[in-house]
Amino acid sequence: MPRTPPWILAAATLAGACATPPAERPEAPAEVTAVTRPDRPGLVEGPVVLVHAGQGSPAAWSDGAVRGAEAGFDALGGGASALAAAQAAVRVLEDDPRFNAGRGANLRLDGRVIECDAAVMDDAGRFGAVAGVDGVRHPVELAARILGTPHLLVAGAGANALAVRLGLERARLATDRARRKLVRAYRALFEGLPPGDPWAGFDWRAHWNFDTPPPATFEQARAQIDAAAAAAVAPAARDTVGAVVRTADGRFAAALSTGGTTLALRGRVGDVPQRGAGLFAGPFGAVAATGRGEAIVRERVAAAVYDNLAAGMPARVAIRRAIDGIRPVEGVGVIAVSRYDHGAVATSQMAWAARGEFGTVRADEYVERW
Ligand code: GLY
Repeated sequence: MPRTPPWILAAATLAGACATPPAERPEAPAEVTAVTRPDRPGLVEGPVVLVHAGQGSPAAWSDGAVRGAEAGFDALGGGASALAAAQAAVRVLEDDPRFNAGRGANLRLDGRVIECDAAVMDDAGRFGAVAGVDGVRHPVELAARILGTPHLLVAGAGANALAVRLGLERARLATDRARRKLVRAYRALFEGLPPGDPWAGFDWRAHWNFDTPPPATFEQARAQIDAAAAAAVAPAARDTVGAVVRTADGRFAAALSTGGTTLALRGRVGDVPQRGAGLFAGPFGAVAATGRGEAIVRERVAAAVYDNLAAGMPARVAIRRAIDGIRPVEGVGVIAVSRYDHGAVATSQMAWAARGEFGTVRADEYVERW
């Protein structure tokens, strides 16, 4: 087995070390002192593809993230750009029905409507996003095609029509798993959400904006969705899939794709297609978030992590500082790659994997707890 170089061990430790209580968090270094490789001036590590499968997804499902990371890394090996590699990684997870993106996307409250969001960004500042998409197998591909338009974000019926016009592959995205997940969410809605949950106390019936009437009871809700699918057998991923990439010559990109939150009105848009909220990339790194979109937008998470990376903080510290204002009941996870390390931090379990010259590391080897 090849000997793992010391700078790779440092990166793996950053990604997987146990959480540090706030009072003991290390201070950010005044400047980056890591030794860089002579063959890559300014870079400590070589190419890396780091993938998450959503905050709340069991670490045991990291096999899906590994497949995504390997697809992205293979793409880099074939000469793909950082952006193309990030897309390649996310496409794999959009095809995995365990995860809330593409096939497997969440259903909105009526149990029928699906509205996917996706976005891509690279270190040249190019950003493309779509919102409220259904029937497109790879929403991330549609987001990347927005880069070829004068726009940043295309939403709803126009985005769906654009996918048809561009000949993107169609797919039915609804799954029994998504139906079971909505049934569980309705049970919590009727029986009581945890204090602090944004939906606790929200009069959702008064705001119902679907074509069918709102259910009066949990039983009605279950009947409306799919009574046969009510017996949930496995935990379901809560949120979003994403990838961040660093190429061998230090270029960066990020990509995200989501079916939105479990409880959502029609037309709700979260963090994913908002530049600087769910993802950000620039010359100092790339960042992709997951979790409660409203909290991620409020804290401007991806841009804040990026600013911390640019100030020289290690990735894990940069993430922790940026998500300090997000409460555990809201939930968040972030992956980030910089010029000299990478890191993954979440307020709960989160399936993730990284693929680099060091091989593969995955969340179920390094479960990080809040
Ligand atoms: N983080 C995905 C969403 O809130 O829509």
